[in-house]
Order: sequence, then structure tokens, then C-alpha cells
Amino acid sequence: MFKLSKKVAVVTGASRGIGKSMAETYARAGAHVICASRSEDALNLVADGIKSEGGSASVSVINVSDLENFQNLIKKISDEYGSVDILVNNAGITRDTLIMRMSEDDWNTVIDVNLKGAFNGIKAVTRTMMKQRSGRIINISSVVGLTGNAGQVNYAASKAGLIGLTKATAKEIGSRGITVNCIAPGYIATDMTDQMDDQAKDLLISQIPLGRIGSPEDIAATALFLASDEAGYITGQTFTVDGGMVMI
Ligand SMILES: NC(=O)c1ccc[n+]([C@@H]2O[C@H](COP(=O)([O-])OP(=O)(O)OC[C@H]3O[C@@H](n4cnc5c(N)ncnc54)[C@H](OP(=O)(O)O)[C@@H]3O)[C@@H](O)[C@H]2O)c1
Repeated sequence: MFKLSKKVAVVTGASRGIGKSMAETYARAGAHVICASRSEDALNLVADGIKSEGGSASVSVINVSDLENFQNLIKKISDEYGSVDILVNNAGITRDTLIMRMSEDDWNTVIDVNLKGAFNGIKAVTRTMMKQRSGRIINISSVVGLTGNAGQVNYAASKAGLIGLTKATAKEIGSRGITVNCIAPGYIATDMTDQMDDQAKDLLISQIPLGRIGSPEDIAATALFLASDEAGYITGQTFTVDGGMVMI
């Protein structure tokens, strides 16, 4: 499989779900992984699990919507490890309701975490990666950013925004050997989707050609490939990992 030996990777939203799986996968491939989110205890459990398997991980408590927080984190990592090779902007939230009922706060909070959080991460890491003349940035979007979804105007706008952010950044910094790509997961079994009722889950599964809900590991496998040396000629792209639910 793809190797990430001696690479330093930051994964936001690594305390659970898809981020946790990506952190574990990167560590198994040989990277030192900085697991970042707001919940120190949960992050410690993830990092301890990685270390118990012989991997290398550390924990950083961060709110991705705070640029200064992100800049301090990247500075600390560069000072400590000498490089930041991979950044995965995965932290994300939902605040679903119809637009008629959506508050300004529901809108602002989702945009602040999902879209501005990725902007903050990219802004914080770009100088370091440009100096290195190498780097991998992976933004976790959603199929909803491609298709839209009733009840999720804030989330869909943030996820569509990530695709534009990815393309524009890829064009700006490609000449420095940095690739920027997006993964658009479909319906993945995590806390985020756990609260759906069985009827809604069955309806969704009926729209998936591969006939099953995805796992965090399905997303982590694509994130591993995109972080690897082998993906060095791919940039500005969005990869749907959704069992075939959305075909464009
Ligand atoms: N599950 C799906 O079906 C699906 C589909 C498409 C896209 N996605 C996207 O995939 C990503 C991961 O989703 P998931 O399903 O794994 O969600 P999840 O289980 O709810 O995990 C979300 C992660 O984001 C972190 N987070 C939230 N707000 C944060 C903030 N302000 N600062 C730092 N970290 C923050 C959470 O950690 P703390 O609470 O510890 O801060 C947690 O680790 C999200 O961007 C989501 O939109 C998921």
C-alpha cells in the first residue's frame, strides 16, 4: 500500500468518525499524525490507540474557526518536527433546518467551521509548505456540495465552497509542488449520520448502486492515496467516494 514514512500530517476533526479513521490510516502508513479537534480526552484516546499499535501520534486541541489558533498550531508543529507535509481539513458540523427556519447563527456557525476552518488551515500552512516546495492539502467536502440537499443550505453552501477553495488554491500554489484536492463522501456511518431514522437510512441506501452505507475507512483509503507520493500529479480535483450515489 501507499507509504507516508517520515511525513508529518495534521488531521482536523480526528477525535471521531472519518477524521479518526484517517489519522489511524496515516499512522499505519508511517506518518507522525497530529490529531486535532476541540475534545482533548477523545483525541487522547485516538492517539493512545495509534501508539498502542506502534504508530506515532500527538494531540492538539484546536477550534478550526479560529485563525490564530490554527497558525499557532502550525508554527508549533514546524518548530518541533521541521515540516508539515499533509493537512487534512476534515472538521465539520451540521445545523440542519429549512431555510425559512434557519437562523443567522445556524448559517454563520456552519460556514465558520466547515469553510472558514479550511481557509484558516490552508492560510496557516501555505508558507511552510511553499518553503518546503512540497505538500498535500486535502479538504473534506460532501456529495451535498455537488447536488444540494433540502434542509442543508448552510452545509451544502459550505461544502460547495470547499470545492471552489480547493480549485483556486491548487492553481495558486501548484508551482511550489503542493497539491490541493477534495474528497466528497456520500453517506458514511459516523455520529454525524447516526441520528437519521431507519426509514430515511433505507431510502438513502436504495439510491446507492453499491447497496451499502460507506465506512470511515472507505474515505481514509482515498485520503491515503491523495497524501501519497503516487498522487503527485493530481491537483484541484474532487473525488466522490459514495458507492456510486452521485455520478456526474
Ligand atoms: N458522515 C457522513 O456521511 C459525511 C458525508 C459527507 C461529508 N462528511 C464530512 O466529513 C467530515 C467528518 O465527518 P464525520 O461524519 O466524521 O463527523 P463527526 O463524527 O461528527 O466528526 C466531526 C469532527 O469534527 C470535529 N469538529 C467539529 N467542530 C470543530 C471545530 N470547530 N474545531 C475543530 N474540530 C471540530 C469534531 O471534533 P470535536 O467535537 O472534538 O471538536 C469531530 O472530530 C465532515 O467535514 C463532514 O461534513 C461526512
